[in-house]
Amino acid sequence: GINVSKLLGTTGLVTLDPGFVNTAACSSEICFIDGDAGILRYRGYPIEQLAEKSTFIEVSYLLIYGELPNQTQLDEFTSKISRHTLLHEDLKRFFDGFPRDAHPMPVLSSAVSALSTFYQDSLWPFDQDHVEISTIRLLAKLPTIAAYAYKKSVGQPFLYPDNSLGLVENFLRMTFGFPAEPYEVDPDLARALDLLFILHADHEQNCSTSTVRLVGSSEANLFASISAGINALFGPLHGGANSAVLEMLERIRDDGGDVGDFVKRVKNKEEGVKLMGFGHRVYKNYDPRAAIIKKTADDILTRLGGDDSLLDLAKQLEEHALADDYFVERKLYPNVDFYTGLIYRAMGFPTKFFTVLFALGRLPGWIAHWREMMNDPATKIGRPRQVYTGHTERDYVAMSGR
Ligand code: ACO
Repeated sequence: GINVSKLLGTTGLVTLDPGFVNTAACSSEICFIDGDAGILRYRGYPIEQLAEKSTFIEVSYLLIYGELPNQTQLDEFTSKISRHTLLHEDLKRFFDGFPRDAHPMPVLSSAVSALSTFYQDSLWPFDQDHVEISTIRLLAKLPTIAAYAYKKSVGQPFLYPDNSLGLVENFLRMTFGFPAEPYEVDPDLARALDLLFILHADHEQNCSTSTVRLVGSSEANLFASISAGINALFGPLHGGANSAVLEMLERIRDDGGDVGDFVKRVKNKEEGVKLMGFGHRVYKNYDPRAAIIKKTADDILTRLGGDDSLLDLAKQLEEHALADDYFVERKLYPNVDFYTGLIYRAMGFPTKFFTVLFALGRLPGWIAHWREMMNDPATKIGRPRQVYTGHTERDYVAMSGR
């Protein structure tokens, strides 16, 4: 029932592409993905090399500024971030307003949105100095906000950041430490979390990054744009998948551990039954991040004493699915978050918190895209067209005639 002559907009033919499966909204130099070959590169560097050799802070610099930092640049960047980790005391009180069992994702997005009320100098998105200081403030303060969201949910006192520690170490201490008690950061745990952050740091025009760009295209400030990105990430088809995988594995275990039966229910498309952590819009061969995680999941879980029964279930599920025509025909493979939930759980994070960890990892990517867009002279306000399928013109019907 679509009138094709109506598909001609003011600037040419309007294409209908639900989910933007084949529509590019921008050009970008930040991230390269070849979904058929399973390739992911940040600024040209293969994810495998960055995972092995780099650190999250260095990768953040690379994504945002375009090049790997030299030692002086890295030291300066690290020191600037560590000098901005404190939250304003009034912002600290902001957490009191949420219910105790508040999900940490809306707490995170609200607090980030509130940052623009504390730093109103940063509201003008074209002042390079303001953009620079907002970048640093976000990178520095998001781990503190995340740790406070956690402390709030478990009813424990907040810890001020210890700026002698690195970003990940500081976050772990603020999350799991107690005031006036020494907290030894476990270097294996810190390295594993740093690796997971690297793997999540960017993924070109995914749902949350596209949201950050769309909101930013109206010249909304960086805090407001990132807050919107966090809300997009909240959904179970995107960042919420890492929590959903764990809930799925627990459900299978509690129902007796029959992996075959669960796969059958997925294939029958029973309502609400999906193989969470499987499938990806772009990767139709394998997700290179999942390959890296799978390699390390075993080591980390053994070292941290994770729940092996769930890891066994995950492995059985993967094996089952990869040998099944339904998944093979649809090119459904494990994505990055099939195994991350198990690792986060072994680290001691509650399930609800997993998506917050994704947000901490994705932050430098969001910032890099927002900055690239603001500096691109081709940027216009994002304003998709539509194909109207509603009523044609009709006359108003009086109440007595309805
Ligand atoms: N389990 C079962 N079937 C699936 C799954 C899945 N996880 N994913 C896709 N399919 C099926 C669809 O039902 C569809 O089948 P059909 O052709 O018979 O209708 C076919 O595969 C194609 O799927 P689409 O939904 O068209 O794929 P799309 O690219 O739109 O979706 C998505 C990608 C959202 C990631 C999807 O695979 C999914 O829902 N996966 C589970 C959630 C998940 O793990 N999300 C994390 C994504 S990665 C990230 O954000 C880090």
